[in-house]
Amino acid sequence: MAAKKYFTWIKTKNEGSTLPKYLDIFNVAMPKEASKILIKAFTKEGDMILDPFCGFGEILIEGEKLKRKTIGIELDKTRAKYCRSKNLKVITANSLNLSKLRLPKIDACITSIPFYATPTNRLKLDGDLSTEKSYNNYLRDLRIIFFSLKKNLSKKGKIIVIVKNLIVHDEFIPLAWDVVNILREKYHPMKEIIWIKSKEYYSKNKFRGGINHTYVLVFENDQS
Ligand SMILES: C[S@@+](CC[C@H](N)C(=O)[O-])C[C@H]1O[C@@H](n2cnc3c(N)ncnc32)[C@H](O)[C@@H]1O
Repeated sequence: MAAKKYFTWIKTKNEGSTLPKYLDIFNVAMPKEASKILIKAFTKEGDMILDPFCGFGEILIEGEKLKRKTIGIELDKTRAKYCRSKNLKVITANSLNLSKLRLPKIDACITSIPFYATPTNRLKLDGDLSTEKSYNNYLRDLRIIFFSLKKNLSKKGKIIVIVKNLIVHDEFIPLAWDVVNILREKYHPMKEIIWIKSKEYYSKNKFRGGINHTYVLVFENDQS
C-alpha cells in the first residue's frame, strides 16, 4: 500500500512475524508492511526514529531501508544482539531508564509496545513491562517512559504507538484507551489509524484473543 497523506485505516495481508520461529516464539516482530506505511506517512528521509521497545528491530530495519536514521532500546540482550548483527544501533537497556541514556534528538518515536499480561519473552526478564505485577504498575511504567522521552523529542516530533485493547482471561482491558489518556497529558493527539488484520486471531491462551484490530495512535510534541 502506498503512503497516502490522509488515511484512517490500514489493512495488512501478512501480519505474522517473518523471523524464524525459534527466534520469535511469541510472534512479537512488527510486520514489515505496516512499519513501512507508518514510517513513510509520518517521517521523511534523514529523520531520526526511536523505538524504545525495538524487539527484533523490524521498525528500525524498515526505517533504514527508507533512508531514515534509527536507534532502538531493547531489554532482552539476545534480541538487542540480533539487532546489532543487522547493523542496527540498539542499546541493551530498560526503557524506564531512558532519561539516563544519551539519545540523539528524535523526530519520531514509533513503537509497538509490550502488552500487559501478554508474554513477549519466555525468559520473564526483570523489567519486562508485559510481566508487571499489576495493570496500574504497567501504566505507571509507560507514563514514565513516554514522559521522559519529551526532552529528546524535536519540537514537531511524533509519538506513534501501536497498541490494542486486550481481553485477558475474559476481562476487557482498555489498554489503547489508557495509553491515549497517558499520552495526552504531555502531547497533542493528531490522528488515530485503525489497523485491520486480514484474519481473526484467537489464541488458545486467551492472551491475544477476541480483538482483531489494532490502533495506531499518533501524537505530536508541540503544535505551536
Ligand atoms: C511487542 S515487542 C516489540 C516488537 C518489535 N516492534 C519488533 O518488530 O520486533 C516488545 C519488546 O519490548 C521489550 N521490552 C519489554 N519491556 C521493556 C523495557 N522495560 N525496556 C525495553 N524493552 C522492553 C520486549 O523484550 C520485546 O522485545
